[in-house]
Amino acid sequence: SSPPQLEVNGSTYATDGWTNVTPKILSYLGANKHLQTDHPLSIIRQRIVNYFYGAYRNQRGNPLFSVYDKLNPVVTVQQNFDNLLIPADHVSRQKSDCYYINQQQLLRAHTTAHQVELISGGLDNFLVVGEVYRRDEIDSTHYPVFHQADAVRLVTKDKLFERNPGLELFEETWSGSLADPKLILPSSKFMDQTKQPCHTLEAVKLMEHEMKHVLVGLTKDLFGPRIKYRWVDTYFPFTQPSWELEIYFKDNWLEVLGCGIMRHEILQRSGVHQSMGYAFGVGLERLAMVLFDIPDIRLFWSNDSGFLSQFSEKDLHNLPKYKPISHYPQCTNDLSFWLPEDIEVDAGFSPNDFYDLVRSVAGDMVEQINLVDKFKHPKTGKSSVCFRIVYRHMERTLTQAEVNEIHKQIASASVDSFNVQIR
Ligand code: PHE
Repeated sequence: SSPPQLEVNGSTYATDGWTNVTPKILSYLGANKHLQTDHPLSIIRQRIVNYFYGAYRNQRGNPLFSVYDKLNPVVTVQQNFDNLLIPADHVSRQKSDCYYINQQQLLRAHTTAHQVELISGGLDNFLVVGEVYRRDEIDSTHYPVFHQADAVRLVTKDKLFERNPGLELFEETWSGSLADPKLILPSSKFMDQTKQPCHTLEAVKLMEHEMKHVLVGLTKDLFGPRIKYRWVDTYFPFTQPSWELEIYFKDNWLEVLGCGIMRHEILQRSGVHQSMGYAFGVGLERLAMVLFDIPDIRLFWSNDSGFLSQFSEKDLHNLPKYKPISHYPQCTNDLSFWLPEDIEVDAGFSPNDFYDLVRSVAGDMVEQINLVDKFKHPKTGKSSVCFRIVYRHMERTLTQAEVNEIHKQIASASVDSFNVQIR
């Protein structure tokens, strides 16, 4: 039973059966960690922006790209999904994965959500930086709010083929109109990795070459010229072909960004008919954790001067390794309960609902939660779940009494919210 109206960022929104934002999540709006002086996320933002300023200049020597880093994170379903050709039944739209304000509006799940509005406004080279919101598990690399940078670059035929005049962006045989995206969406998962039917192979190859050159340049600017990397084919509904760039780091391949040639339907919807473009998106926390050696994603939300004073934007090219302030002890407590009759995990009860409840009650006192056990009682048919909650504050030692009290509050909030029975 949610209230009929919600106040977000000074505007009032209607709520409905889809509403699942919590006051805790709404409290992150406006925090703008990516704009906070000397914050590691702000340092990474400036490195990316400066790299693009340097990589693309106009004839007068001025940067080609413009930067949007204060856009409202409240977006419509159309902006976040429909405009980007994300199929109606795509998993990323689920209520268990996004923070919805109501059926039509949500907190953006990626900064790509702003693509169509900016292109429609006439922009052809831009970066969008901001925080995004996703419902997820709780561990050292996941947080319900994190930051992304997205970029779009559009080129006309004359620009792309400056050195090869006479070549074309679009196939001669192509009629200029595309099938209704709704008709082609269900099979789009099996999209051709070579090119979209409307584009010429020459245009795609040249655009791909420019994009990969720039993104490898960015990666080397951040991680050093000797970094080992590889391109992996992938699928995004809004680009075709699509790739992920991975770097070899501490004996593992680590995904750093997603990119591709923009789907022409998206440009057409934005009123652009004579250009093609590339787009990419990158997560800032992922980069910052590697570059500064930051071990836990919660640290980005710390106001402790012991953390914040370690970083400075005076010299953006000197990225110091984070020195742990000290390690406070962990405290582990299990919570088991019976779900109401006919309810099971992922059938009426989503673990993400429980994680949000814990975030609301315990905030950053919780380091990690694992679903350690679930079973169905053979006689009663009722399902039981057990979550193991690891408590640890980043900035002080928690007492056993304090942890017990919070644990009790989580238990009773679970009873109230999910109608469960504590075991
Ligand atoms: N939006 C994608 C994500 O969040 C990243 C992306 C952006 C990929 C633009 C391709 C083009 O994972």
